[in-house]
Amino acid sequence: MQGEVTRDPVRTPEEHGIIGDSPEMRKIAGVIAQVAPTDITVLITGESGVGKEVVAKAIHTASRRNKKPLITVNCGAIPEGIIESELFGHERGSFTGAAEQRKGYFELADGGTIFLDEIGELPLAAQVKFLRVLENGEYLRVGSSLPRTVNVRVIAATNKDLENEVSAQRFRPDLYYRLRSVNILIPPLRNRVEDIPVLFRHFAAEVAHQNKIRFAGISDEAMQVLQQYHWPGNVRELRNVVESMLVLESGKYLQPDDVRKYLKEFRVNADERQLPVHLGKSVEQAERELILRALLDIKGNLMELRTTLLDHLQTQDAVPPAEEQAHADGQDALTLEAMEHRMIADALDRSKGNRRAAARELNISERTLYRKIKEYGLE
Ligand SMILES: Nc1ncnc2c1ncn2[C@@H]1O[C@H](COP(=O)(O)OP(=O)(O)OP(=O)(O)O)[C@@H](O)[C@H]1O
Ligand SMILES: [Mg+2]
Repeated sequence: MQGEVTRDPVRTPEEHGIIGDSPEMRKIAGVIAQVAPTDITVLITGESGVGKEVVAKAIHTASRRNKKPLITVNCGAIPEGIIESELFGHERGSFTGAAEQRKGYFELADGGTIFLDEIGELPLAAQVKFLRVLENGEYLRVGSSLPRTVNVRVIAATNKDLENEVSAQRFRPDLYYRLRSVNILIPPLRNRVEDIPVLFRHFAAEVAHQNKIRFAGISDEAMQVLQQYHWPGNVRELRNVVESMLVLESGKYLQPDDVRKYLKEFRVNADERQLPVHLGKSVEQAERELILRALLDIKGNLMELRTTLLDHLQTQDAVPPAEEQAHADGQDALTLEAMEHRMIADALDRSKGNRRAAARELNISERTLYRKIKEYGLE
C-alpha cells in the first residue's frame, strides 16, 4: 500500500497505513497530513478498538521526527506511585528503591514523539507536570530541582469522555483545553460501515497469508450481516472475527449463517439494543449488568437454599443457631472475595494473560487490575 500513487490532492488513508475508505477516514487522513509536519499536540479520541494507536503511529511516521523514536506510554498501566518517575525520570536515591539514576520516557523520546495512551488515567499530580512540559518543554526529574528541557511531539489518546472527567474533577481543565486544540475523533465502526468490506478484505488476506489457508470469499448477503452488526469492540473485534472465521471455516465461501455464528458470542441484535435497559449505556455495559444480575440471582438462590437447610438442621436441633449464623456471615464475606479472585483469574484466562483486555472486560482500570493480581498472587 505504501508508495501508492496519490489519487487526489488529499492524502488517502492507505498512504498512512490506515485501512478504510469512508468519508470519515478520508477526512482523518487529511487531518493527519496537515498536522504531521507540525509539532502541534494531538488528542485522539474514540471507543476502544477504533484505531487510535494506528492513527498515532501514522502521525509519527508522516512527521519529520520519523527517524527518532515513537515512545508509547500506557498511562493506565503504570502504578500511581511511580508514574512521575517513569515519565520524567529520577535521580539516584530520590526515593526508596531508586538505586540508580533513571531517564524518563520524555527524555527517551527526545527528538521524536511520545504517545500517551489512556491519558484520562493520568493522576492529577502528574497532570500538572505534564502541562508544564507541553507549555515550555520543561520538566524536573523526581528528586531534582534542575529543570531540563526536551523536544518532543506529544500525542495523547483516550476512550474516556475527558469533559466528564473534568466535571468530576479528575482531569485538569487547563490541560484539557490545551490538549483538545487538535482533536481527532475516530468514529465507531458501526458509523462508518463502508469501511467494513475494505477492512474485512485486508484482514482476510493477512490471516490467510499468516496461516497459509485459502480464503474462498464471502457472499454479499454475508457482508451485509457484518455491516449490520453493532461491533462494540470496533476494528479490533472485526479483526478477531475474521481470524476465527477464516481459520475455522477454512476454504468455505461464507454465507450469512456462517458469519452469524461468529457474531453470536457477542451478538446484540438491533431490537435488543432498543430495549429501555440499554438506554444511555453502552452495549458492553448493559451486557455486563445482565451477567452481574444473573450472578447475584444465583447467589440469592444459594443463600435461600442455605437458610432453608439451616432451618431444617435447627428444627432437628443439630447445631446451635447463633454460632452457625456467625459462621455463615464469615463465609459470606469470604465468598465475595473468592468470587472476585475467580472473576479476575477467569478474565485473565480468557484474555490469555492480556491484562489490558482483562481489565476492559472487567470494567476496571489496568492499575486496579495490577493491584488485584498482586493482592491475589495471580502473577
Ligand atoms: N483503520 C485501520 N486500519 C487497519 N487496522 C486497524 C485500523 N483500525 C484499527 N486497526 C487494527 O485494530 C486493532 C485495534 O486498533 P488500535 O489498537 O489502534 O485501537 P485503539 O483505539 O487504540 O484501542 P484501545 O482504546 O483499546 O487502546 C489493531 O490491531 C489495529 O491494527
Ligand atoms: Mg490503544
